[in-house]
Amino acid sequence: MNILYLHSAEAAKDLLVKRGAVYSDRPPLVMTTEVCGYEPSPLISYGDKFRRQRSLMEQALGTSVIPTYYPLLEIGTCGLLHRLVTSPEEYDRHILRYAGALSLLVIYGHRVASNDDEMLNLADRTIDLLANDIVSAPPKGIWAVDVFPSLKHIPEWFPFASFKRKAAVWRTQLSDFYTLPFLEVKQKTADGTAVSSFCSMLLEEEKHLTAEKEYDIKWAANSIFTGSIDTTSSVIHHLLLFMILHPEKFAKAKEELDIVAKDRLPTFADRPLLPYVECILSEIFRLSCPLPLGLPHRLRKNDEYKGYIISEGSAVVANIMAMVRDETLFPDPEAFIPERYDPTVDEATRKARDPRQWIFGFGRRRCPGMHLAESSTWLAVVCILATLNVTKAIDSNGDAIEPEVKYENMVFRLPNKFTCKIQPRSEQHATLITGSVLE
Ligand code: HEM
Repeated sequence: MNILYLHSAEAAKDLLVKRGAVYSDRPPLVMTTEVCGYEPSPLISYGDKFRRQRSLMEQALGTSVIPTYYPLLEIGTCGLLHRLVTSPEEYDRHILRYAGALSLLVIYGHRVASNDDEMLNLADRTIDLLANDIVSAPPKGIWAVDVFPSLKHIPEWFPFASFKRKAAVWRTQLSDFYTLPFLEVKQKTADGTAVSSFCSMLLEEEKHLTAEKEYDIKWAANSIFTGSIDTTSSVIHHLLLFMILHPEKFAKAKEELDIVAKDRLPTFADRPLLPYVECILSEIFRLSCPLPLGLPHRLRKNDEYKGYIISEGSAVVANIMAMVRDETLFPDPEAFIPERYDPTVDEATRKARDPRQWIFGFGRRRCPGMHLAESSTWLAVVCILATLNVTKAIDSNGDAIEPEVKYENMVFRLPNKFTCKIQPRSEQHATLITGSVLE
């Protein structure tokens, strides 16, 4: 299979957006979809099944629906703050819970009561398995069976069929992941005990649920759940990291917050009054770049671009990481400089720099969760800045410990856990956090 990497935003826009009719397929991941039996919407080809599931996802994630989630986001954020001050050493588990619990509630009506929630932990383990063992391994993420699909028919005991033996084990875990939360909501909807959710509403709508409709609801729900966790977590992990590394930038954001929302937690109504926080979020989006190579698109028929022939079936990968570090737009691209988006910068430059035009992907496969991601990360960022100090931890000799930043996840740009110190900004902020918890 030919792989074409697009390093410029211009090429990504020309091909993946303007020629979206032929660049919106996905390369067949036979190992993941057929051998392991895992076929969520992000991995399926561009056709009727994709369109049906995309339309269901848009019902749950469209711009007009997002404000209905604000109260849930506010409850989730208060819980996150409370847990971060109560057991800061488990900050990674708390962020996972923040990112996953909203989807579990909104999509399946499943309420997460602790960090040990079975569905949340199953999702954590399974997304890790997918990202690091199935979709991205072996070298370059392509299995022999992806290239020679007929290999899927060889029996498990065959000498070179270790991929089938691995798949037999992984299949069970993957099946639990996409089936268990769905079976729970289906059962509760039938009993009349379901909390209203995306799945329960769609299931109730259907008097005679066809197999096709049930299949679409199940996979659209799993796609939203899978898409939301490591991406949202990446943004919040990077916020903590940048707070440690660039305290001076965050002091300015805290000053802004102290004027707008003193003695209370900020809410969505405050957003227009917090321009510097907006710059901070944009810079975190740019530098975190949660899916640095997006998801590969596949070309449906031979094409020609700037004198190059691109053959049918090529995998086309947008190098988003290169786009968000384009030196012509972002001088000193690795540096954390929220002022790049300051209202004093001319509007055309600010618009050209907005990382949202790249980090959520391109064209007809562009991330359907981008509006929810925008709201949930904004609220987490603003509430963490308003109430917490995140600094370098101090060792037994009284020396500051530099955070060790390692990226080992093969798909998501999610830093490994680093050492840090998380505290309320003051006694008043501690009281504010305790008083706001409704969970
Ligand atoms: C900051 C957070 C997020 C980032 C940076 C992000 C980024 C992306 C990117 C780059 C893609 C691939 C687009 C392409 O193929 O061109 C994608 C796809 C997807 N994302 Fe997100 N995402 C985020 C949050 C979310 C959330 C919160 C959800 C669900 C609520 C979600 C659901 C999905 C789904 C279902 C797809 C597959 C779309 C398809 O194949 O057609 N994402 N995302």
